[in-house]
Amino acid sequence: MIKIARIDGDGIGKEVTEAGVAVLESLDLNIDFVEAEAGRECFDKNGTTIPEETIRIARNAKATLFGAITSTPGEKSPIITLRQELDTYANLRPIKSFKGVDCLFDDLDFLIVRENTEGLYSGKERLEEDKAIAHRVITRKASERISRLAFQEAIKLNKESVTCVHKSNVLKKTDGVFKDSFYNVAKDYPQIKTIDYYVDATAMYLLTKPQEFDVIVTSNLFGDILSDASAGLVGGLGLAPSGNIGDKHGLFEPVHGSAPDIAGNNISNPIAMILSVSMMLEYLNEDYLASKVKTACENVLEKGKVLTPDLGGNAKTMDVANEVIKEIEKL
Ligand code: NAI
Ligand code: MG
Repeated sequence: MIKIARIDGDGIGKEVTEAGVAVLESLDLNIDFVEAEAGRECFDKNGTTIPEETIRIARNAKATLFGAITSTPGEKSPIITLRQELDTYANLRPIKSFKGVDCLFDDLDFLIVRENTEGLYSGKERLEEDKAIAHRVITRKASERISRLAFQEAIKLNKESVTCVHKSNVLKKTDGVFKDSFYNVAKDYPQIKTIDYYVDATAMYLLTKPQEFDVIVTSNLFGDILSDASAGLVGGLGLAPSGNIGDKHGLFEPVHGSAPDIAGNNISNPIAMILSVSMMLEYLNEDYLASKVKTACENVLEKGKVLTPDLGGNAKTMDVANEVIKEIEKL
């Protein structure tokens, strides 16, 4: 029995999680889903965006599937809390072009590895009269472990290079540590080519020569921005999956939020979630099933017959999920 924590959240988080779970249930796996609450509805009901019970359920599960939540101003972010509590220090965001999807580039296949626990998202902010101060904490330990994971992913994916993205010309101390740590770890992976770029130049290269990237490793804020921008290069948020990985836990979620503008109509695109399910299967060492799920998504997109409105179709969320399930059965 594989215990999976299931956190649907708010808005389309519920719709896409239902779709992801349907795909998982169609596979020959013995999964026990444990439901847990988080987000805005949870706050309205319980007075907290993320109850202790939810953290406990996620801690006791083999992996967590997370839909999306609506933020509650002034309250704790459930997803940042979970990333910290589970110490999922790496955020993996594959950027891949799909055949049949109208996008800016049809030939991209790279991975962004974002540090998930510190940097400008350490939560160390304070107000002092008429100024506000945010601490940007970069430790050698976190920088080395994220670089190591990036090199390991490069090997696993058969990639030639890892690019370290930083701004060490201005953030000399903090990004100095980040960049030094990267080159320190690189010594253990002589077969992988190393590149380092400033973040501003990287933003331009993502538009002018994104094909050259294999694996990008970067700090929290830069990774957040560059990965959303990169998702835009290949067909948008409805297709962008992610995994949060640590030494003990894994949490998988689409990159998108709760999309209040379309929520409730069952027209949200479940592909980002289903691709996140594929990443979760890989994390659970079910590589064969992981690649089946991914290939099934690719086939559905390429055929182009059953697509949600964001991709120009008129299918419902569960129609797409069922089409993916049919494709899986054919493989
Ligand atoms: P969003 O990702 O929810 O939506 C942005 C745009 O993309 C909207 O037009 C939406 O309709 C579209 N979109 C997103 N996912 C889609 C899908 N699967 N299928 C079709 N269209 C899709 O971002 P937004 O509007 O900035 O935020 C809405 C709420 O979600 C906010 O409360 C925000 O804080 C929260 N949020 C939560 C995240 C999480 O749970 N990890 C991540 C990002 C935002
Ligand atoms: Mg983001």
